[in-house]
Amino acid sequence: MRQDHLISATQLSRADIEAVLDRAAEIDADTEAWHGRRRGEILGLCFFEPSTRTRMSFDTAMKRLGGRTIDMGSVESSSVKKGETLADTVRVVEGYADALVLRHPLEGSAKMATEFVDVPLVNAGDGAGQHPTQTLLDLYTMRENAGLDDVTVGIMGDLKYGRTVHSLASALTNFDVRQHFVSPESLRLPRSVRYDLHESGAQVREHTDLHDVLGDLDVLYVTRIQRERFPDENEYLKVAGEYQIDTDDLDAAKDSLTVMHPLPRVDEIAPEVDGTTHAKYFQQAHNGVPVRMALLDMLLENARTDTTGETNE
Ligand code: NCD
Repeated sequence: MRQDHLISATQLSRADIEAVLDRAAEIDADTEAWHGRRRGEILGLCFFEPSTRTRMSFDTAMKRLGGRTIDMGSVESSSVKKGETLADTVRVVEGYADALVLRHPLEGSAKMATEFVDVPLVNAGDGAGQHPTQTLLDLYTMRENAGLDDVTVGIMGDLKYGRTVHSLASALTNFDVRQHFVSPESLRLPRSVRYDLHESGAQVREHTDLHDVLGDLDVLYVTRIQRERFPDENEYLKVAGEYQIDTDDLDAAKDSLTVMHPLPRVDEIAPEVDGTTHAKYFQQAHNGVPVRMALLDMLLENARTDTTGETNE
């Protein structure tokens, strides 16, 4: 993969994706062997929005590679509270770190931040925009459980504000995947994402009822309604609780159906589903570590090659 920054899944070709997933699989097979790869290097974590999995798995990934992390902390405890701009924050943290991970509530913020830094910058979620590293671990999980070619994938929930959905939908166009989108009318995929899917020639269908398509699915990717992104709480209340699955719903699914969710869940998947062979969402969250180890290793390797003309292999 020859990318300086990872901002959007639209940057990733099939070869890029496979390179990251293959390296993640090597890491998964023998994680110890990778300890020391990034010794002496520091990853800066700048999270302007809440995060558990993404922040902790980036932190773990860098440490398992032998590197260290520095964390801006919460917005409340940082200089952002004093009115510092995003541009200034990333320019300062760049001076402390060899790579940056940024999560921010504004769509387009990660792209903007790359204008101010030379070290690799990874978008860990920009508002309702993109979340490309989530997509890499989603694809890794899909490849392990259902494969990535000749598969039928359903993506359900908040397709409008869900950044994991926007990234996943675009990355899946690199594979032979039939995509079914299931949501209330008001939370359909944004026009721009639909346009890109159409342009790429993707096989896409939209539905309001999961049961129209559930029996055909190899993978069902469930998402949370993104309450914090609704301009009007009443609009949220109109759709809250509408798109949920339980074990009765799954009677209509293939035995081999893989159920995924980027987490956190609210009430979209009944806890009784957790004990079924369909449930892969905790495995999916754990896959964040090898996949982010692979990505960080590749980006830091590229950055070193760019500045010294040497690789460390
Ligand atoms: C997602 C996010 O932050 O976009 N979570 C995550 O990174 N695993 C999904 C969500 O918040 O619903």
